[in-house]
Amino acid sequence: MCGVIGYTGGGRRDASSILVRGLARLEYRGYDSAGVAVHTGDGIVTRKLAGRVPDLQALLARSPVSGASGIAHTRWATHGAPTTRNAHPHVDCDERIAVVHGHKFRTETDTETLAHLIEDSPGETLEARVIAALELVVGTYGLAVISADEPGKIVVARQGSPVLLGIGDEEFFVASDASAIIEYTRSVVHLDDGDIAVLTPQGYHILDRESHVQLRAVDDVTWDLEAIALGPYAHFMQKEIFEQADTVRGTLRGRLVFDEGVARLNGLNITPDDCAAINRITIVACGTSWHAGLVGRQIIETLAQIPVTVEYASEFRYRRPLAASNTLTIAISQSGETADTLEAMRAARAAGSRVLGIVNVVGSTIARESDGGIYLHAGPEIGVASTKAFTSQIVALALLGVYLGQQRGLPLEARQELLCRLAQLPTLVSRVLALEPHVRRLAEEFVDARNALYLGRGVNFPVALEGALKLKEISYIHAEGYPAAEMKHGPIALIDAEMPVVFLAPHDEVYTKVLSNMQEVRARGGRIIAVTTEGNGDLGGLVDHQLRVPATAPLLSPVLTVIPLQLLAYHIAVLRGCDVDRPRNLAKSVTVE
Ligand code: F6R
Repeated sequence: MCGVIGYTGGGRRDASSILVRGLARLEYRGYDSAGVAVHTGDGIVTRKLAGRVPDLQALLARSPVSGASGIAHTRWATHGAPTTRNAHPHVDCDERIAVVHGHKFRTETDTETLAHLIEDSPGETLEARVIAALELVVGTYGLAVISADEPGKIVVARQGSPVLLGIGDEEFFVASDASAIIEYTRSVVHLDDGDIAVLTPQGYHILDRESHVQLRAVDDVTWDLEAIALGPYAHFMQKEIFEQADTVRGTLRGRLVFDEGVARLNGLNITPDDCAAINRITIVACGTSWHAGLVGRQIIETLAQIPVTVEYASEFRYRRPLAASNTLTIAISQSGETADTLEAMRAARAAGSRVLGIVNVVGSTIARESDGGIYLHAGPEIGVASTKAFTSQIVALALLGVYLGQQRGLPLEARQELLCRLAQLPTLVSRVLALEPHVRRLAEEFVDARNALYLGRGVNFPVALEGALKLKEISYIHAEGYPAAEMKHGPIALIDAEMPVVFLAPHDEVYTKVLSNMQEVRARGGRIIAVTTEGNGDLGGLVDHQLRVPATAPLLSPVLTVIPLQLLAYHIAVLRGCDVDRPRNLAKSVTVE
């Protein structure tokens, strides 16, 4: 939600071009407006506009600005229209202080206010003035400030919004995430809430609000530039769909111990006694991660026989969770920064619950605030529509199910069987991806649909929800996911010859029931696409199109059945001319309520 970058390097490189290149990598965090503020040596010059980073690049080509340090911003509008006037950076009255920030304040919604506050605050140094100004601010932010009077210095403050420092050789960076700076350095420092960092070309230090020096670890970024390059693909979403054989493999790597039927999850930090004491699991998440949580519920209840509830984090956080000392709370989040999920997790902890995080982004706030957890190791997900995170989340939940199952009496053979099925998934994912040409043809047929219905049962009901979400968020076609058997209690009224109905019908214990639900749609003239399993009988007389995925353990089938739906949404959106990686009104990580 908004992207922030800053650079200081004592003239080693031109700040302006580093900032704009970095902004392009952060654009997935928001793309309503973009701007830079550069210290030219004579003072601060800003360039900003309502529009995207390429528009800012064009503006800078017409009206260049260069200097040794600066800050930049790409905005996802919360308060204030996405206009040039509201674009960041914001400056004070004399244009001697410039500020970018990645969040909102609760008391004052305009970042410009902060520039004026710093201008009016007492202090000998920029950091002293920023600290004084922040005493008057309530809310969450990750911000970077420069001053015309202190060339080369950037002051950074974090409270609730992700910010990290990049440590180079006599050059230093600040960014919302590592993707913006990975081509210059792999050494990063994740700031904690309350931290104030001061960067100059000579070095950096971190202070608390009383100006006491704080020590923070320097971490290595484990992925490389290639992970965030588009390569031969047209969009990041397409790339990430096609990465899924590798990303599922990444989630499994080093975690399957076949002989003992064990999932090795070193980061969980749960003792066998803790495990025995758990009498309930609550999963909190948003959007696609919430859908993965619904799949996880069935997996964990089946394997570990522990009751699981799955909550929208945004609802849970305001429900004042009941005391929960024997409840395990699992926060699922690709970004690890989603504000609602983070607050839900904090509310659960306050009620006495142990908290685990299932998170992709290493070092993210949810990962750092959890008592333990499972990293997805799926690599950076750039496409705004989540794809590879979803399949890896299900795999991580299955690993957790095996782990908990082992502690709670799941027999060795059953565990080994599931581990073998998990190990086969990467190969099976590749086979599903080979369906792409077929799915593209279907996209051509359904490109003009105005509505669509996605139906599934059991562990594939959440896949129906996910398929519908993918379609609506990137193609703007209205779509609903529904439990297939619930359809007759209402939505069946929508079905006519215009309505595409996508059925999830893999081979499992509800397969024949789903066939009956298909009959109900068929009888009313609906156009049916069925995602079914190789080896299931031919559905030719019943459906218009069949997409066959390989067989796997029924509990794991969502990892395969979701892929044709991702591809279908992707191709329909491309055919409709939609901006797949930057769908309107959306941002990748939602760090506001
Ligand atoms: C949908 C999508 C969102 C996210 C949701 C949670 O494609 O990407 O629904 O799943 O905003 O984000 P994370 O997982 O980062 O907490």
